[in-house]
Amino acid sequence: MLRRKNILKIAIDSPAAAGAGTLAKAISKHYNLFYLDTGKIYRFIAYLKLSFPKKFNQKFLKLKIKSLKIKDLSKKNLLLDEVGTEASIISKEKNIRKIVHSLQVNLAYNPPKKYRGSCLDGRDITYKIIPDADFKFYITANIKTRAFRRYKELKTLKKKIAYSEVLKSIKKRDNSDFNRKISPLKKTKDSLLINTTNLNKRACFLKIKKIIDRKLKN
Ligand code: C5P
Repeated sequence: MLRRKNILKIAIDSPAAAGAGTLAKAISKHYNLFYLDTGKIYRFIAYLKLSFPKKFNQKFLKLKIKSLKIKDLSKKNLLLDEVGTEASIISKEKNIRKIVHSLQVNLAYNPPKKYRGSCLDGRDITYKIIPDADFKFYITANIKTRAFRRYKELKTLKKKIAYSEVLKSIKKRDNSDFNRKISPLKKTKDSLLINTTNLNKRACFLKIKKIIDRKLKN
């Protein structure tokens, strides 16, 4: 695999709805980095499984991943709660993780030329996908804050959804993501902890920017 030299690589891990995506996007824009929300890849696979249950097998999946375009990951359907729940189920499968692994590594180490580097967020980015990242962050927030943020986001897509339902599904997802055997979510020792519970988007961004700028200047 081709690996671009001297690029800036940022790895972010976080539990569901901690605000990592919003932050990663802002950071990527500021530093001209290619941004990849790896959760969207698992959501894309989950969506395929829910939409084509009879066709869904290794061969079908490999073909779909091969022809995947980054813009396919911005489809609104992928944001649905049932897709997120299914994503946390299929992401426990070794074969599925194997199929997406090289795609993610390739985009992290060989982002399109117009970018100065890459920024990926997910559950295993800091220790599996970009273990040698220049910056590693573990972004989190308390569970009620996360559930409320996801609730507001889902309300814009689907009117009939209760906060309690969202809280329950986030708890279930946390349980699965933290405790699964394969690539569980964890904060690695070399990741910086950013707790977004009491910080707004701008404050979070500035906190991370300060950390990055300090190291880049040296
Ligand atoms: O980040 P998001 O909530 O969209 O991710 C959906 C699900 O995909 C997660 O709950 C997790 O189970 C799975 N995932 C993963 N590894 C990643 C990113 C997401 O297992 N790197």
